[in-house]
Amino acid sequence: MPRFSKAVASLRSSEIRDLMTLASRPDIISFAGGMPGNELFPVHEVEELYRTLDIKKKQSAFQYGPTSGLPSLLESLEGFLEKKGLPVKDNKLLITTGSQQALNILAKAFIDPAEPVLVENPCFIGALSAFRSYDAELRGIPVDRDGISIEGLRQEIDRNEKAKFLYITPYFHNPAGVLYTTERKEQLIATLQGTNIPLIEDDAYGDLYFFEEDIERLKPIKAINPDGINVCYTGSFSKILGPGLRLGWMLVPENIYAKCELIKQSADACSPSYTQVLADAFIRSGQIYSYVASVRQEYKKRAAAMVSALREHLPDYVLWNEPRGGFYIWLTLPEGADATRIMTLAIEGGAVFVAGKTFDPAGRQNNSLRLSYCNNTPEQIAQGIPIVAGAIRNICG
Ligand SMILES: Cc1ncc(COP(=O)(O)O)c(C=O)c1O
Repeated sequence: MPRFSKAVASLRSSEIRDLMTLASRPDIISFAGGMPGNELFPVHEVEELYRTLDIKKKQSAFQYGPTSGLPSLLESLEGFLEKKGLPVKDNKLLITTGSQQALNILAKAFIDPAEPVLVENPCFIGALSAFRSYDAELRGIPVDRDGISIEGLRQEIDRNEKAKFLYITPYFHNPAGVLYTTERKEQLIATLQGTNIPLIEDDAYGDLYFFEEDIERLKPIKAINPDGINVCYTGSFSKILGPGLRLGWMLVPENIYAKCELIKQSADACSPSYTQVLADAFIRSGQIYSYVASVRQEYKKRAAAMVSALREHLPDYVLWNEPRGGFYIWLTLPEGADATRIMTLAIEGGAVFVAGKTFDPAGRQNNSLRLSYCNNTPEQIAQGIPIVAGAIRNICG
């Protein structure tokens, strides 16, 4: 038997992941994945952009690049981020291999085994697994419809052993779908100030808003640039161009950047030059703005189809809130309900979602589930939601 490290020995495939394998039948309607629809990718636009690049650019696409990222992409991405009010000049930008790598690097930079980190409950599974892989002690803080519980955060901060950081996804939360209110962000800032607990602000979905009136609410905490908090802002091309590019970024204070760049060097030397060249051309052509505007409309349509099907078919005892952007709707079932049993029934009926305990830092609470509408047509949604609702009624009455 090989002797694995302590951190890795505790990593397990979950029962939910095993069920998902069952659900890969082609006839199953999947509300499980957080993947953009294949048919939405700007395949032809990117093909055309690549064709028009000069030979030097094309050659550099095949070459290793600097660990920090290709200079041309760093420049164009800075412009993109500056439009959101982000303080790109006073911080350093690191291109990463997906924002998943940004989370992994930050985890490695901060966590020693058994040290506490603060996360939302529910929380993005990729972040949980990154933090677990460094053997962190995960402390979940409840999220309500306005954002993280400030009372819960205060309680955690008051505990003896100080947490290494707080990780949040305030803009169209994965999985809870929540968009933090401005007031909740202000309270969060006030609570963190003076604690010396860095904030990891994950903004993977902020561009996918459905309502212009939310733009002010989407202003990142990093852009507010609060005194006395080290904000590590992460973002991604995955939902605004394509996850297959495997490109994300972090915008962080210089001293944190220095460590992160060293960690990245040892992980993969640099992110793919090929896709960096494509992403750079996509930004510089201005198409990123028109493309994102078009997918926003498409996701808004899909979300509306799911909302209407849920209104029609869900029993009244299921709680959920209408999405204002992003990919997800979070359903809360009566206390004690077991979403894994519901999921097993739904798979038999031909639809699948993700059971809530996947997103619980403690892996227990299971009276909830996540539905994604991003990867289904309104017709598939209309067909699949009655199956999910039927499975809920069957188990919960
Ligand atoms: C909240 C959140 N953060 C980060 C990521 C990671 O994305 P990627 O590594 O593709 O950039 C995802 C992917 O689904 C996500 O939902």
